[in-house]
Parts: sequence; structure tokens; C-alpha cells
Amino acid sequence: MTPQEMKTLLKERGSKVEDWLAGCCDGREMPPRLRESMLYSLQAGGKRLRPVLCMSTAGMCGLAPESVLPFAAAIEMVHTYSLIHDDLPAMDDDDLRRGKPSNHKAFDEATAILAGDGLLTDAFWFMSGMDMPAERVLAALREFAFAAGSPGMVGGQEWDMIFTGMESITLDQLRLMHSMKTGAILRASCTCGALLAGVDASRLKAIGQFGAALGVAFQIADDILDVVSDTATLGKPAGSDAEQGKNTYPKMLGLDQSRQLARQYADDAKAALQGFHGREAEFLAALADYTVNRTA
Ligand code: IPE
Ligand code: IPE
Ligand code: MG
Ligand code: MG
Ligand code: MG
Repeated sequence: MTPQEMKTLLKERGSKVEDWLAGCCDGREMPPRLRESMLYSLQAGGKRLRPVLCMSTAGMCGLAPESVLPFAAAIEMVHTYSLIHDDLPAMDDDDLRRGKPSNHKAFDEATAILAGDGLLTDAFWFMSGMDMPAERVLAALREFAFAAGSPGMVGGQEWDMIFTGMESITLDQLRLMHSMKTGAILRASCTCGALLAGVDASRLKAIGQFGAALGVAFQIADDILDVVSDTATLGKPAGSDAEQGKNTYPKMLGLDQSRQLARQYADDAKAALQGFHGREAEFLAALADYTVNRTA
């Protein structure tokens, strides 16, 4: 699949996610300010990579990608909550996100905390309401909750805070932090699509390997972009990691070695897909390349 075809399909699936997200507060009573704050961050754009991964692995395992749309969009709700909280003054203290003032700047800190709490909790409400065999939904729910929780993203964010400002950490610590704070959700985005499709254990394992490698490649690329790109392109403050005293791959290995390592993880991701064929497998392989070649 050419990079152009990949971009077109990513955009096409991403806009289905956006249409779904636009209606996610409809028909549920809540304070208007909370609704506004949740929709503000959900509708600010973003690559929509995680839900698209979920739809595409479901597609690769024999389901119509759109049949998992509510679950996939709920993954984006969890991701969006993580960004709102990540930007708070107590964490990365960043005032710009997805090209707009961060949620706590557009609203206030309390509302930003609650918008994050709302997005996280509501996501599980949507996931548990999937109109699919209950066993599959439960398996995907447990998988995603584990990845988003303290052994995954939340724990990784805590490591990030603990490591911030430390003179040096080991490469093992850096790898662990990246695989938890970013890799876990990206991996689960992939495996949840497969679990909803009722895939067998060996294919599930391969898809998990794909997602885990892609996840680490993705965060290394994010660290590199923080150094080499600019705020307008990223839609979030460039140079924030150095300013905050974050331990990152470019800081520890330099840019060239970081780029090589990201490339290696993307290649590992693609290698994990070698038993899969067809358009969805080609799309996922192209997404692995995009993960490291992207400019934002
Ligand atoms: C940013 O994720 C946070 C990280 C895990 C590095 P994305 O780069 O996917 O952010 P959006 O969703 O496109 O805004
Ligand atoms: C955040 O990593 C990972 C999350 C779980 C949100 P970063 O702090 O590097 O993400 P950005 O650069 O602010 O998007
Ligand atoms: Mg952070
Ligand atoms: Mg941050
Ligand atoms: Mg970053």
C-alpha cells in the first residue's frame, strides 16, 4: 500500500470515528460546561490512530471494521482523557494541545480533571454496551482496562513523573516507561479489535507483538518530534520535554540512534504481521511506517 493510500484510509476511518464522537454526549444529562469541555478536546482533531488500529485489526480478523466503531471511538475517549490530564500543571504543564489551548486553559483545572474523569468512565460504559457476543466484549474490556490502568498507561505516567528531573535513568527504565505509558494503549487498541473478532490465540499473540512494537516506535518518534519539530506543526509545545527535564530517547541516545531504534521497532511490528495477508494487513504495515515517518 502506498503512503498516499494509507493516508486516505486513515483519514476516511478517522472521520467515521469523529462523526461517532460528535454524538457521544447526546441523550445523556450532564452539566453543559462538562459536556462542552469533553467535546472541546474530543473534537480538536488528532490523528485518531488508536481507534483506526482497532477497526483495522478487527477487519484483518474478518469483521467489518465499522462493526467495532463504538468500541474504537471509546478508545479515543480514553486517549483524549489521558492527554487532558497529561497537560495539567501538575503533570507536563503544557498550554497547547491539538493546536488549541489545553483543556485546563480553555476551561479551568477542575473542569479539565472532571472532563478527563468523564471521558474515561463513559468510555467503559460505551464499551460494555457493544452489541456483540458478551464473551468477546468482556475479553476486550478486560484487555483494555488492564492497558489503560496502573499496570499500563497510568503506571507509565507515574514512572514518567518519577523520572522527570532525574539526572539519568537506565535504558531499561526508559523502555519500561515508554511501553507502559504509550505502548500499552496502542497494543490494546490492536488486540481489542482482534478479541472482538474472536481471533485464535496464536493470531492474537502476533497482533499483540505488532501493537507493542508499534507503540514503543510511536513514543520514540514523539520524543524525537519534540526536539526537531515546531509548535505550529505539532499543535503542542515543541521543546517541552527538555524544558521539563524529561528523560527521553533523544536525551539518552541522541537523535540518530533514536531514529534507528524507532525504525527497528517499526520493522519488528511489520515482521509480526507476516502471517497475515490482504488489504487490512497491508494497511497496518503502512501504519507502522507512518508511526516513525510522521511529521506530527
Ligand atoms: C500523543 O498522542 C501522546 C502520546 C502518547 C505520545 P498522539 O500523537 O496520538 O496525539 P493525537 O491523538 O494525534 O493528538
Ligand atoms: C504522554 O506522553 C503519554 C500519555 C499517556 C498521554 P507525552 O507527555 O510525551 O505526550 P505529549 O508529547 O504531551 O503528547
Ligand atoms: Mg507526559
Ligand atoms: Mg505531555
Ligand atoms: Mg511527548
